[in-house]
Amino acid sequence: MIAPSLLAADFACLEVEVARAAAAAADWLHLDVMDGHFVDNISFGPAVVETIDEATDLFLDVHLMISRPDVFLQRFIAAGADLITVHVEADHDVRETLQGIRAAGLKAGLALNPATPIEAVLPFLDQIDLLLCMTVVPGMGGQAFLPEVLSKIAAAARHRESQGLSFHLEVDGGIQADTAARCAAAGANVMVAGTSLFGASDMPAAIRALRTA
Ligand code: DX5
Ligand code: ZN
Repeated sequence: MIAPSLLAADFACLEVEVARAAAAAADWLHLDVMDGHFVDNISFGPAVVETIDEATDLFLDVHLMISRPDVFLQRFIAAGADLITVHVEADHDVRETLQGIRAAGLKAGLALNPATPIEAVLPFLDQIDLLLCMTVVPGMGGQAFLPEVLSKIAAAARHRESQGLSFHLEVDGGIQADTAARCAAAGANVMVAGTSLFGASDMPAAIRALRTA
């Protein structure tokens, strides 16, 4: 599946940009929430997620790069998120937050940074609908893909298989045709891409190129 990241869109016309992703046959829309603490950048919060939810039928894949996802959880649920991903490195009771997401009827995702070993998420694999392996250090779009994450994606896919689980494996950061193909070969099935999709003049062609790759 292809999930364009709105972070690379023109914020002056979000409704048009969201419609552009829908018309380009995006599967999901990826929304990057940054708090200036967990990452060195600030993006947008629940009010913008709610506005986008009102503007589109696209499945909203909300990636919380915030220190206290537990504190803000109910606000993102109320804003219309369909899937909420929280970081294993953030300051919260991971199990409890994942339960809170699922209790509200949403899909629950767990993310880990490039430097975080796969062992950190192993206790939670049976409680998630999606595992997000960051392929850049989170905080901004347009960074170069980190190939050292590929072995972790493959390890996650092996754990999924051996435990009989079926969570999605998502990658985020520096994804374009060649890196998407390498991630898919390692076992990833959800590709987040900002710069290579919203930055493309022809988004349908860029999405087709990702699918073909
Ligand atoms: C990184 C964000 C990504 C980002 C990806 O902090 O989580 O979703 O928007 O951007 P590109 O595709 O430009 O690397
Ligand atoms: Zn993201």
